[in-house]
Amino acid sequence: MLLLVHLCAVAEVRIVHQTVNAMTSPIGISHLNPRFGWAFEADYERGIMQEAFCLSIYEANHLESPVFSTGMTEGDACVDVCIPDLQLAPCTSYCWKVTARLNDGTVVESPFACFETAIDEEEMKKVHWIHAPKSNTTPEFTSVLFRKSFTIDDELTAAKIYTSALGIYDLYINGERVGHAQGGETVYDELKPGWTVYSKDIAYQTHDVTRMLRRGSNVITAMVSPGWWSGRISGAPYSNDTSLSFIAKLLMKRGDNVVMSVETDETWMVGSNAPLLLSDIYDGECYDARIEWKVLEQVDSTWTSAARRTISVGKLSTMSNHPVRVRTDLIRSPRKIVVYEGTKDDGSTYGQIANAKEVETSRPFFLKAGETAIFDFGQNLTGWPSFTISATNGTHLNFRFAEMLNDSGSEQRGCDGPEGSLYTANLRSAKARLEYICRGDTTESYHPTSTFFGFRYCELTATADVEVLWIEAQPVGSDIDETGQFECSDDEVNQLFSNILWSQRDNFVSVPMDCPQRNERVGWTGDAQVFSRTACYNADMRSFYRKWMNDMRNSQKANGEFPNIAPLHKWTYYSASGWADAGIIVPWNTYLLCGDRQILEENYDAMKKYIRFVSSLHTDRFTHSGAQATYGDWLAFEETDKRFMSVAYFAYIADLMRRTASVLSIDAEDAYAADAKEFSTLFNDIKKEFQEHYLKADGKLTIQTQTAYLAALKFHLIDEKDEETARHALSDLIEKNGYLLSTGFLGTAILNTTLNEVGLDDVAYQLLLQHECPSWLFCVDQGATTVWERWNSYSMESGFGPVSMNSFNHYAYGAVGEWLYSGVAGIKTDEERAGFKHSWIQPVPCIRSNHAGEKPSLFPITWASASHRSPYGIVESSWTWDDDEELTLNVVVPPNTTATLLLPFLDGTMRIEEISDDLDDSENMKKTDLKDGGISIDLQSGHYDFSIFTEANSIAVHESSTEHHLYDLTGRRLSTAPQHGIYIQDGRKVMK
Ligand code: BGC
Repeated sequence: MLLLVHLCAVAEVRIVHQTVNAMTSPIGISHLNPRFGWAFEADYERGIMQEAFCLSIYEANHLESPVFSTGMTEGDACVDVCIPDLQLAPCTSYCWKVTARLNDGTVVESPFACFETAIDEEEMKKVHWIHAPKSNTTPEFTSVLFRKSFTIDDELTAAKIYTSALGIYDLYINGERVGHAQGGETVYDELKPGWTVYSKDIAYQTHDVTRMLRRGSNVITAMVSPGWWSGRISGAPYSNDTSLSFIAKLLMKRGDNVVMSVETDETWMVGSNAPLLLSDIYDGECYDARIEWKVLEQVDSTWTSAARRTISVGKLSTMSNHPVRVRTDLIRSPRKIVVYEGTKDDGSTYGQIANAKEVETSRPFFLKAGETAIFDFGQNLTGWPSFTISATNGTHLNFRFAEMLNDSGSEQRGCDGPEGSLYTANLRSAKARLEYICRGDTTESYHPTSTFFGFRYCELTATADVEVLWIEAQPVGSDIDETGQFECSDDEVNQLFSNILWSQRDNFVSVPMDCPQRNERVGWTGDAQVFSRTACYNADMRSFYRKWMNDMRNSQKANGEFPNIAPLHKWTYYSASGWADAGIIVPWNTYLLCGDRQILEENYDAMKKYIRFVSSLHTDRFTHSGAQATYGDWLAFEETDKRFMSVAYFAYIADLMRRTASVLSIDAEDAYAADAKEFSTLFNDIKKEFQEHYLKADGKLTIQTQTAYLAALKFHLIDEKDEETARHALSDLIEKNGYLLSTGFLGTAILNTTLNEVGLDDVAYQLLLQHECPSWLFCVDQGATTVWERWNSYSMESGFGPVSMNSFNHYAYGAVGEWLYSGVAGIKTDEERAGFKHSWIQPVPCIRSNHAGEKPSLFPITWASASHRSPYGIVESSWTWDDDEELTLNVVVPPNTTATLLLPFLDGTMRIEEISDDLDDSENMKKTDLKDGGISIDLQSGHYDFSIFTEANSIAVHESSTEHHLYDLTGRRLSTAPQHGIYIQDGRKVMK
């Protein structure tokens, strides 16, 4: 029946996911060297390849004839395609489409996609930065207004404004906030211009404002607040002059094509009476809505003329990555609202909240002065509240934010207030408040624009009675396209996946942050590198990481040292092993998973400089000591010697440098090929010294920790002859620890993927499904909706973890996400054809061994399904055990790519069928028997549904390490051992 449906379906191939510079419809990018990308989708067609393409570019309002066309160009290129002789103009809206000829001779055409180029950087350079004159300097952490009124005499045909600020700015024209019109709505770039090393470069934004300007008088207003430039977060390492500054160029066109312009200069006015009385990323905002500022027909005597900024800053650059936006698809309404008044004693340190009552979440409600409302949005997130209220003029609304509530009033449990109130001790010195002073109209609405909070709960008190008409939590972050999905039969694992995804959304706000709530929120490089592979499965990270690597290069020292935090920050130290090494690891991972070869090209010199610097370090009597042994396996339950980690990481980055140079090498004689040889020798030398120090004659390591074995195996520091010993030792350490991990940031990042690589999949599943602390599901059981900084950040049993560093939104331990895709579902890219041009599909259906005395629980995960939208299209893999002992595998290989399905767990008694094709006689599948058992099937693009029949009840688990009881797939104990099958013995999967 299913077969029939397949055959009857109309075969169709579509071009989808068109990108420019790896972004969908980007605005304000450089007109130089854009990179185009497209992918294909096909329903049931198999074996589709692109043979040639024709890319045509049009000016947006002249779609009849292209300004450029490549003509039909032979080849399968469709990712980051650069067109050498392409000449585009700045300040122009373009549309483009691609026509592809496929290997079956059909031709498919894409729809139009658009992008817009910014004003040329050279032109922008000529515009002047303005700021308040010295005498008018505003107090710290308040904001400054810039204003220009001007007259337009003619009807305009087009108008674009190019703007940036030293600080975070918000822009208004004639009283209306400037945004982008998209599909009938207006979307706004937030927290502009984002965080860069401002002393080196600052991004400027492009907005089409044709519709907002009118004949007659017009006014542009900008409010600039300290943000990352000069707020508490930056400590101002970027310039001696930290005054809030603004730059703008407005270009207007009339019908006869005459161009008029308005740009920042001394004719602009500066005002210090901004409504943002306080603005700071850590501390929040105080906004006085009584101050009217957006239109300002007249300026009063407090306004002065702007001054030109004379102290130079970095160069102005076009936008190269995603703007920060409100993620409207992820907005959360309150799940619960509790209103209380005062506290009552319950014998604990702080007591509990008193007179608490729950109010209806979907209706407006009155909050009296003296009462406190607590909104629970059900999800820990980064962003701000957006609200509509009704109150009298001058009423102060005070909001506070928290990730957790005090679960009691007990100081011993780490609580910092009465039970039921906000727990804010972990914000450390970040005040994270929002104070809004009401105008007193019938209703008024607000959301912050110059700060953000990390919160699930928000508290509101008011100085007079107010009516809360509406409130929602708006997630705010870099607007990166998400590309990954994972789901399985275990709801807690699904919650873990959701937590990982949310921590990614929450911590990619212009830069990759460690956390979004306390007084850090900075680009810790170690956190960034350990999570980078998971990030690349979850989202299209190409432009985000390329921009961040620009920050890394701009923060690099002349001697090659990479920082521990990027962009450069007042706490920045350099060259911590596992942290600064991100300068090599992140470009490599982006290349590997996204196929972005250019990120390697762009960073190669900086990477090489760094590894040369690390090679010059000979600390602790090591010739190859690696980078500084500063943080080691950070926050691990079991300490691994820090120097061990530095040496191991040095070997790892030397190996990545070899691989990078090999990718970039075009012929065997070029400089890259020579470098590859040099780095290969370096790797071998480090490995030798590593073994001299850390490997014993019996093949075991001198350091007996999980992380030590993981690093040694993952980074290939053990010779083949000793691998089995190391594998056993690792498995024994985990088993002896009661199948509990003991790893920190560095060890956890490679934990389950290494177990998968060395064939200890059942151990990986044991760790995944573990509920005791430390484990991922322990945090889920305690109510986590994001990934925590510590395994024991909170427990219902003992309360809150060490307050000095206790974030509930730190993505590092979420690095296990990589294994959910690549291990459980088996979606892996081939290093030789990176970015999933060729995929390895190697799913690991869950086969779990049981501990002694534990009731057999076979296949606690009965199905799993993952997909990843690679730059080439969607790769999918899912598997299901059904009651009839049949394993179903569904695989999707995107057009223009190939894959190899690896089923090493198949044995002679298992039969495999593909539902619509004959496995042994198909053009689209080529089966090979693997020498160690199992099979591999080369797949052309297409959808495949495999069924594997396990005829001899041949999958077994054991109850203890001494007895080998066998169970069939449904959990029935077998009295006689089957002849063939997969057995788990001593915690390991073996084939008989
Ligand atoms: C951050 C970490 C970071 C670490 C460096 C912490 O305070 O939150 O995530 O990597 O410092 O050790």
